[in-house]
Amino acid sequence: MSFLLILLSLLLPAIVSIVFLPTVARFAAVLVGHHLRRSSRTRRELLQARVASETKTHEAGQKSEKKKKDDDDWEQIGTTTSGLNSGKADSDWDGIVGFFHPFCNAGGGGERVLWAAIRATQKRWPQATCIVYTGDHDVDKAAILKRVKDRFNIHLYSPTVHFLYLSTRDWVLASTWPRFTLLGQSFGSLVLAYDAFTLLVPDIFIDTMGYAFALGLSSFLFPTVPTGAYVHYPTISTDMLDSLQAGGQGVNAGTGTGYRGMAKKKYWQLFAKLYSKVGSTIDVVMTNSTWTQGHIKSLWEPYRVKRCKAIDIDVVFPPVAVEEVIAAVPVTEASEANRGPYLLYIAQFRPEKNHRLILKAFASFLHSKPKLPAYPNETPKLVLIGSVRNSHDDAKRVYELRLLAHELNIKDDVEFICDAPWPQMLEWMRKASVGVNAMWNEHFGIGVVEYQAAGMISVVNESGGPKLDIVVEVDGKPTGFHATTAEQYADGFRKALSLSPQETLAMRQRARKSAERFTDRGFAEKWLANAEKLVALRIERTSR
Ligand SMILES: *[C@@H]1O[C@H](CO)[C@@H](O)[C@H](O)[C@H]1NC(C)=O
Ligand SMILES: *[C@@H]1O[C@H](CO)[C@@H](O)[C@H](O)[C@H]1NC(C)=O
Repeated sequence: MSFLLILLSLLLPAIVSIVFLPTVARFAAVLVGHHLRRSSRTRRELLQARVASETKTHEAGQKSEKKKKDDDDWEQIGTTTSGLNSGKADSDWDGIVGFFHPFCNAGGGGERVLWAAIRATQKRWPQATCIVYTGDHDVDKAAILKRVKDRFNIHLYSPTVHFLYLSTRDWVLASTWPRFTLLGQSFGSLVLAYDAFTLLVPDIFIDTMGYAFALGLSSFLFPTVPTGAYVHYPTISTDMLDSLQAGGQGVNAGTGTGYRGMAKKKYWQLFAKLYSKVGSTIDVVMTNSTWTQGHIKSLWEPYRVKRCKAIDIDVVFPPVAVEEVIAAVPVTEASEANRGPYLLYIAQFRPEKNHRLILKAFASFLHSKPKLPAYPNETPKLVLIGSVRNSHDDAKRVYELRLLAHELNIKDDVEFICDAPWPQMLEWMRKASVGVNAMWNEHFGIGVVEYQAAGMISVVNESGGPKLDIVVEVDGKPTGFHATTAEQYADGFRKALSLSPQETLAMRQRARKSAERFTDRGFAEKWLANAEKLVALRIERTSR
């Protein structure tokens, strides 16, 4: 009897705390959230005052000085963004959007997305303020904005973008966590996010670097702050989990056996579960590609369903600079006269670009004596343009490729152009008819987007980004051809070059339309469609 009593007296507190733990945690979160909001209130007011005064100065400057070219540009892009017309009702929303991007001055593709997103947001909600949480203490606002302009040609409206400096960025460096890096960095991102909230609690919180845990913390502390994620790459992927199985591929292949392997597997599975749980708290999720979308979906969707979160995860392609190609290369009936039966392959001379296979495919195509109604008097030609970096290896490879062309009896039909300057590449994009890419499983393939922008018909490997995202149907019709083997490539060349003149032009125009999905404008439209959901959520949650 007394034994039972003792047991009960030990168990009861445990049971009580387990049952009530969520409630206790919830309560603590509310308290902490409340405290953070209060303590950052002064900074919020200061920020608003600064926005007001900078706007005044900017407007005064504009009046006195004649309108500068930059500002014209800014105005003009604003009116072409289609998002501006839809849902006018909330275009006077004046909240603060916090962008969590601790490495904002890095100048890479991820940063391009950040700045393009801020610019679109500024135009859609001119009264709103964008803040960037960054750890780049060595640069001030003017220097960052200048770099954004020089590097990406993105002109931000300075009065409504501000920077808040984090002091705990070391916590997310991989070098801080030599062991258990995944967990360590994720924990570090919690510290960093907490740091951000002590500086200022935003009205909408968006992560553009892949710190899902930071967003999880935000929704835990501030239920009325909607969160958004733009995911470039999943922190852990189903590929990684599968690779531990015996017979898997990649660096971790087969390490899933033995005790250490077992432990590693358990650790990864645990992490994947945590990552998915956190992912299920995020209100709006975007990914940069179909590939990433697939991985995020397979991890997060089951948990999002449980939480009744929207399960649609939108692919928002990052903007790439194809406008220049579009402007420089005409795609009209008249310009067809400039084009010949030329196949263009722009790629570094590296083994994974598989130039050898393309030479073989081209030889097989030529030797089949193709009939090309659109080009009655010309013989096809293959043009290989590529940079020759770390000279020795690449140069040797070019030499070997020339030898191969000789052996295949197509020496006079192949042109090698090493280190062509940009104007020369544009020249070939105007002249060529077909764009070729033979890399297997390329993540994206900016080069293929450029082919499309130039109106070329693509023949690409049936894998990766070129297959899933780029050379896809437009208006239900193809923009190019997919191939795997040399024979299939030869067949693709034949199909692409033997279309009738009308069909050829129509396909070129579809290809260009496809490339427009990757312009700044295409990005802005999709970004705003998602940002509008966040603003609507914010309005809904704070008007209750
Ligand atoms: C998405 O991001 C990853 C990681 O930065 C990159 O490798 C990939 O090319 C990106 N995809 C697109 C479509 O830009
Ligand atoms: C194209 O991709 C397939 C896999 O999808 C691969 O087996 C093949 O070798 C690739 N071909 C070329 C030319 O890269």
